[in-house]
Amino acid sequence: MTTKSQALLNWIDERFPLTSTYKAHLSEYYAPKNFNFWYFFGSLALLVLVIQIVTGIFLVMHYKPDASLNAAGIPVAFASVEYIMREVPGGWLIRYMHSTGASAFFVVVYLHMFRAMIYGSYRKPRELLWIFGVLIFLCLMAEAFMGYLLPWGQMSFWGAQVIINLFSAIPIIGPDLSTVIRGDFVIGDATLNRFFALHVIAVPLVLIGLVAAHIIALHEVGSNNPDGVEIKKKKDANGIPLDGIPFHPYYTVKDIVGVGVFLFFFSIVLFFYPEGGGYFLEYNNFIPSDPLKTPSHIAPVWYFTPFYSVLRAVTYPLFGLDAKFWGVVAMGASVVIIAFLPWLDRSPAKSIRYRGPIYKSALAIFIVSFFILGYLGVLAPTPGRTLAAQICSVLYFAFFLLMPWYTKIDKCKPEPERVTFK
Ligand code: HEM
Repeated sequence: MTTKSQALLNWIDERFPLTSTYKAHLSEYYAPKNFNFWYFFGSLALLVLVIQIVTGIFLVMHYKPDASLNAAGIPVAFASVEYIMREVPGGWLIRYMHSTGASAFFVVVYLHMFRAMIYGSYRKPRELLWIFGVLIFLCLMAEAFMGYLLPWGQMSFWGAQVIINLFSAIPIIGPDLSTVIRGDFVIGDATLNRFFALHVIAVPLVLIGLVAAHIIALHEVGSNNPDGVEIKKKKDANGIPLDGIPFHPYYTVKDIVGVGVFLFFFSIVLFFYPEGGGYFLEYNNFIPSDPLKTPSHIAPVWYFTPFYSVLRAVTYPLFGLDAKFWGVVAMGASVVIIAFLPWLDRSPAKSIRYRGPIYKSALAIFIVSFFILGYLGVLAPTPGRTLAAQICSVLYFAFFLLMPWYTKIDKCKPEPERVTFK
């Protein structure tokens, strides 16, 4: 560094903790040396967050949250999206990056969460990091749901209709609550405007705050790793973990490889299958919303379908409250229960590498049930499919509720003292 740039850095450091922050979070943040493939998804989630924010800013420059009809009888909001797609230079790319980005976000975050489950990353001392993660997941769901209303297509309108109506099943406050959410007695311009406000500013602000808290919490306790061994327990004379390597340059370089591979697959979808076979952008959403014409089959986007299936699996009224209410409770519980994993898991081993056959089987059954629920949620219900959804919902909840018991009796292998690295 030249004397001039060193002097500038000193000037900044006397007024702002630039060098110390750089050291604490990058060049002297010691991460376990045995990270593998599964550790790509945190940085990829950050990348997708940036993609969504940047493309979102450009979309807002041309998008109009207006449900009134234009001279051609098309809702202004729908027409503004078509305008972005056809008239704005590069608009199609920005729009498809944003819509594909939404699905990519969930792919990446689901894999990121799965990694935490196989390596027990939610366990002590990372409980708060995990809770921030679950809150991020909830925010992401709200963000995606509200974003989907904005193009004001048939699925935007009728999907929102189905989900907002669910709130009316809550006893006493339900009907008023759903009116407050809609801002009207029916889904209309007021709903579109408030969802727009929440989607473009309120939820992203919370999301960014939560992601910051998530990373601060991670850097406080340090990263877990595929062996589930705490590297901070074995340090050298300088207090540096024996199994740790500086995040920068080692993992910044590794993460760039992940970014390259991710962008390759992201581009394939973006340029060749932007509607993802009707899973990323549903075909009915290319039709302007029509409050007088209900689509024959209303299904949420793929990332919501496992939870939507849990909702539809509840078909019995209980304690004088109808099935719809209990469906909403079950759907809410299926997400919230994830936050309790750190306290449900009693296994002596953290990583799946050293856990016994019971946990491995339970996790496999859980994942298969989750996929089946996701698949069933896309389809129209039939008695057979409802039964399958009920069985998978029971298995889904059993994974969590029986965990304190089966993780205790499972036969684990002894964890190594140091990480294994070949
Ligand atoms: C916008 C979404 C998210 C972003 C940007 C994000 C970012 C990150 C980053 C950069 C890391 C460190 C790198 C890595 O371990 O891969 C990390 C770790 C972690 N995240 Fe997230 N995350 C997000 C969502 C979530 C969610 C939804 C959960 C769980 C519900 C979660 C749970 C965790 C856990 C437990 C770790 C520590 C993993 C370990 O040390 O083994 N994250 N996150």
